[in-house]
Amino acid sequence: MSKGRPPVTVAPSVQLGGAPERLRERADPCTMIIFGASGDLSRRKLMPALYKLAVDNLLDEDFAFLGVAREAMTDEQYRELMRTELEKSEGFTTLDEGAWSWLASRMWYSSADFANPDTFPAIIEKLALIDKPQADATNHLFYLAVPPSVFPATVSNLAASGLMQRTPSSSDRPWSRIVVEKPFGRSLDTALELNALLLDRVGEHQVYRIDHYLGKEAVQNILVFRFANSIFEPLWNREYISHVQITAAESVGVETRGKYYEEAGVVRDMFQNHLLQLLTLAAMEPPIAIEADAVRDEKVKVLRSLRPLVHDGQAAAVRAQYVAGKQAPDAAGYRSEQGVAADSVTPTFAAMRLAIDNWRWKGVPFFLRSGKRLKQRKSEIVIQFKSPPHMIFGEAETGHVPPGLLTMRVQPREGIALRFQVKTPGTVHELTPGFETTPVEMDFCYQDAFGETPNSAYETLLLDTMLGDATLFTRSDEVETAWRVMDPLIQLWSDRPAPEMPTYGAGSWGPTEADALLTDELPGARWL
Ligand code: BG6
Repeated sequence: MSKGRPPVTVAPSVQLGGAPERLRERADPCTMIIFGASGDLSRRKLMPALYKLAVDNLLDEDFAFLGVAREAMTDEQYRELMRTELEKSEGFTTLDEGAWSWLASRMWYSSADFANPDTFPAIIEKLALIDKPQADATNHLFYLAVPPSVFPATVSNLAASGLMQRTPSSSDRPWSRIVVEKPFGRSLDTALELNALLLDRVGEHQVYRIDHYLGKEAVQNILVFRFANSIFEPLWNREYISHVQITAAESVGVETRGKYYEEAGVVRDMFQNHLLQLLTLAAMEPPIAIEADAVRDEKVKVLRSLRPLVHDGQAAAVRAQYVAGKQAPDAAGYRSEQGVAADSVTPTFAAMRLAIDNWRWKGVPFFLRSGKRLKQRKSEIVIQFKSPPHMIFGEAETGHVPPGLLTMRVQPREGIALRFQVKTPGTVHELTPGFETTPVEMDFCYQDAFGETPNSAYETLLLDTMLGDATLFTRSDEVETAWRVMDPLIQLWSDRPAPEMPTYGAGSWGPTEADALLTDELPGARWL
């Protein structure tokens, strides 16, 4: 992060002796039904998360699973397919045969076109066979891992078939919950329609809108770091903070998802959800409790305080698309990716400046950027503190004393680093007599401190859906307000497709225009 001294590691103040004992509640008994059970998300994320929950003994003895997808497969073929996918999944080492057999014995498959209401009787019949302990008293978790175009029909069919029923309150049993994957709509209007459809069939307490960033340990830690300590919060405002940078950079391209990405683009794919979530957690006021509505109320207030991005037909925002570049010689340009139009104007990178018009943040710019095929994979929030009002040390006259930085790393190396100045031992510079200063860094890394990799986001989120804890899911007004922020920019850019889409080389840090966004306002500043 800084060019100062190597970081000092921060260890937990209590000797943990390996991984700490976890006090995690076991899931409610339920049958989980995934629509889209053979798709990418199910293979790469959901099945590994379920397996890990089984390894950790966090699923109930009466847990059962029904995968629903169009492909014709037997139960046994589906189990085999999932086992193969699991063994290929990211971070997988060796299969725990006991946990896998436990899960596989509760795993079933039904081939059905869920957009067609006529196929639901067969699903109901299969569920009657596998629901435990009795078919009429089983909690049902419906997971929609389906393309957005099929959401409405699936929701309507689920409700019309009687499988998914409205319950008056979250304490009713048996419960029926529906998990909806992102993207939640593709604009404010479509999100409003989707919310209207869902809330016409079930209560808000039954809907779990996923933003998987919220399941990341380091994202939840933003709340703990800010509100379980009193040392930083007094500085967390316009008096002490110069600006905030939020980055979600990926080194991969669009991979096999070109067709989806062409429709989405980076603003819908990353900003409307993940980046705005990071911003709300970094900027929100302390909630009265860590409870779903208390936390979400505060996040919505931040979104509502954001100054409109587009003013007089202008926006402080930059878009661009990756092309083949020297820094990643093997990477194709976006327009050569599978499923992408040769004259595509879909942005794969964006950077923007946001302003929060409230007492805490007035005048503090928030710079957000995200893109595919960038130099390195990293997601983080960097708080840059103001320089001391009068600098008496070091290179003060040349203005080169690096400012204090607090970096909350979401990934990789989940953790927190704090950069500050110390006296360089023994030196007195001939040009600036007195003390010389060097930036140093204190670094806390989850893995080093706790000796284990954090849970996957999906593991945390799946367990929460089975426990009925909606704190890490987005509420209807939250998702709509986030669209209200991003929609005008998407509109502006689609009304004015760039005649020549600005480009950046694969493997670089994005277009030079993104640097100007920062330096135009803060001379000398750079993306960190
Ligand atoms: C998804 C986007 O929501 O997040 C993907 O659709 C993106 O395009 C992914 O790659 C990034 O997630 P993570 O957890 O790898 O940062």
